[in-house]
Amino acid sequence: MPVIQAETATGTQEIDAEAGRKLVLVLEDAGIDILHRCGGNAKCTTCRVEVLAGDPGEIGEPERARLAVETGLAETVRLSCQVRVQDDLKVRVLRQASIDNLAPGNRPTEE
Ligand code: FES
Repeated sequence: MPVIQAETATGTQEIDAEAGRKLVLVLEDAGIDILHRCGGNAKCTTCRVEVLAGDPGEIGEPERARLAVETGLAETVRLSCQVRVQDDLKVRVLRQASIDNLAPGNRPTEE
């Protein structure tokens, strides 16, 4: 079972994750108030995380195209709604509802 280390505004959490699940759901189900304003459709980038260690897997075309529009993001930034957890990862959560004072958005689907 992959282990996710997640740095948040309130500290670091270690989470046991089911392989194959969307990273955004793993984080949210662990109580982290990550934003996902477009509902997990690679449109908003609010679910972005910085990958500090581990392999988040291949980047798909919708994610690559959406991130290419943004300026000033590190190359290690990924959209957690597009990442399927396969291996241990260490990530920094970059946008949280409580910090940005925004509603999280519709919950992304499991599929
Ligand atoms: S890009 Fe909007 S939730 Fe991931």
